[in-house]
Amino acid sequence: MKIIVGISGGSGAIYALGILKALKDLNIETHLVVSTMGEYVVNHECGVNLEELKEMADCFYENYDLAAAISSGSFKTDGMIIAPCSMKTLAAIAHGYSDSLLTRAADVCIKDKRRLVLLPRETPLSSIHLENMLKLSNLGVTIMPPTPGFYNHPQDLSDIVSSIVGRSLDQLNVEHDLIKRWGE
Ligand SMILES: Cc1cc2nc3c(=O)[nH]c(=O)nc-3n(C[C@H](O)[C@H](O)[C@H](O)COP(=O)(O)O)c2cc1C
Repeated sequence: MKIIVGISGGSGAIYALGILKALKDLNIETHLVVSTMGEYVVNHECGVNLEELKEMADCFYENYDLAAAISSGSFKTDGMIIAPCSMKTLAAIAHGYSDSLLTRAADVCIKDKRRLVLLPRETPLSSIHLENMLKLSNLGVTIMPPTPGFYNHPQDLSDIVSSIVGRSLDQLNVEHDLIKRWGE
């Protein structure tokens, strides 16, 4: 499989790191693009710099590089996940405003009917945010706010992150054993 991972400047960078690590462990090819504020928040929240982030993916692209492979639908992938997804990036995708590689790659997933999973993060949500989410959901995009369940009795932060990472990978049809499933 070939998955595009986008990181924008919402809070919850730890989910992006968890997704990249899980995909690497599963030997799934990752194509990473990070917004300027995504880079800032990853560093601020997790103490991981851009060079370290690049090491976590198979291919890294500059967000200004609109001529990169993932900007074209002819470059086939199994979908894209954006974690965290800021309200700005959400708005840009909802309106087809593809002025960065991150938003263009998402636009391509929508037009080519490929899996697109967004982990939007803001609270509270305004009507603008909710309308953008509804618009994307109606287009088949998975809107997956990283709100953990507590019914599996998470013991620590890593359990919480794993549960969100696992459910996100489910949406991308990636087989994994990161989570304890209800009823198993
Ligand atoms: C520490 C930090 C946390 C932030 N958290 C959020 C957030 O949870 N949700 C959000 O929509 N924006 C958040 N922002 C603001 C975005 O980074 C800002 O709107 C930015 O323009 C998003 O750009 P991008 O989507 O290109 O990454 C945060 C900013 C900082 C500095």
